[in-house]
Amino acid sequence: MAKRVGILTGGGDCPGLNAVIRAVVRKADALGWESLGIMEGWRGLLENNVEPLDLIRVSGILYRGGTILRTSRTNPLKRPDGLTRLRENIELHGMDALIAVGGDDTMSVADRLFQQGVSVVGVPKTIDNDLYGTDYCFGFDTAVNIATEAIDRLHTTAEAHNRVMVIEVMGRDSGWIAVASGMAGGADVILIPERPVDIEQVCSLIRRRSERGKDFSIVVVAEGARLPSGEEGGGGMQIHQSRIVDEFGHVQLGGVSNFLAREIEARTGFETRVVVLGHIQRGGSPTAFDRILATRFGVAAMTLAHQGDFGKMVALRGNQIVAVPLAEAAKSPRPVDPELYETAAVFFG
Ligand code: F6P
Repeated sequence: MAKRVGILTGGGDCPGLNAVIRAVVRKADALGWESLGIMEGWRGLLENNVEPLDLIRVSGILYRGGTILRTSRTNPLKRPDGLTRLRENIELHGMDALIAVGGDDTMSVADRLFQQGVSVVGVPKTIDNDLYGTDYCFGFDTAVNIATEAIDRLHTTAEAHNRVMVIEVMGRDSGWIAVASGMAGGADVILIPERPVDIEQVCSLIRRRSERGKDFSIVVVAEGARLPSGEEGGGGMQIHQSRIVDEFGHVQLGGVSNFLAREIEARTGFETRVVVLGHIQRGGSPTAFDRILATRFGVAAMTLAHQGDFGKMVALRGNQIVAVPLAEAAKSPRPVDPELYETAAVFFG
């Protein structure tokens, strides 16, 4: 009887998930394995929502965003019998291996399953790019390209009106998207969660630009940027859109750009506008870089499963695909490289 691999996608979606699914199913088929698609992340494995995946089902999905398996932020560890139900359903479907595609939350559950004897391989996914163990996650490059194009467009309208544009990008705990898109788009200030915001310093940079004849500025801020104590939501706190916490303990962030814009306008006198890019950064077709990375990850993950090398997550180190312990990836978030931020800062103001 052919061996069986189950695959699931968990956490926030990002472009490239379908490329991973396609790669796993194609490689599995080449190795003589059957594939099963687990719907909506861990929820599908808890609720026994599993479908067969074949070559026809994964045909034509390489370039499509989202995930044909859909996703959720369901946390089995929040249910007293969660891990038992996962194991029972893995057994019920005769899965010889499970490939979990996700971020640190998904990897932490995958690692717990592995500790209990389940044959799991992880594939790193987050547009925030803040997973330990890998230099890059797929989806990040697409998000950076979308944000960079937005910054390019906002430059021309900012210049036409002598305005400050504050552009809020994703990045819950790490500012990778802000730094990369800000550098690529020529931002005048970049604010990230790793460094508390100093509003007076932001205003001085904008004034300095004005003194050398530039009456517009581009400020890129990560949604998770922390305001200093004494400011709205202060004490190094992030601004929340709602108080609701998901099953992995995450709040919904958003709105730091509005606060910053009000302060910048009041302190510098420059008319200021806000653009929140939000989920547009996660939608649509992956870049060629992300399609290739996702495909390499999918093939490598299935190869590890075939070799019986479990408890690992595939990762990119330099230009090599390697395997790292799942536990390493579960200890997110990975902060922005300080050297990269300092390079971006050369162009501030
Ligand atoms: O974790 C990835 C991410 O895109 C974060 O950047 C963002 O804060 C969060 O997901 C948004 O989550 P949701 O899709 O649940 O609104």
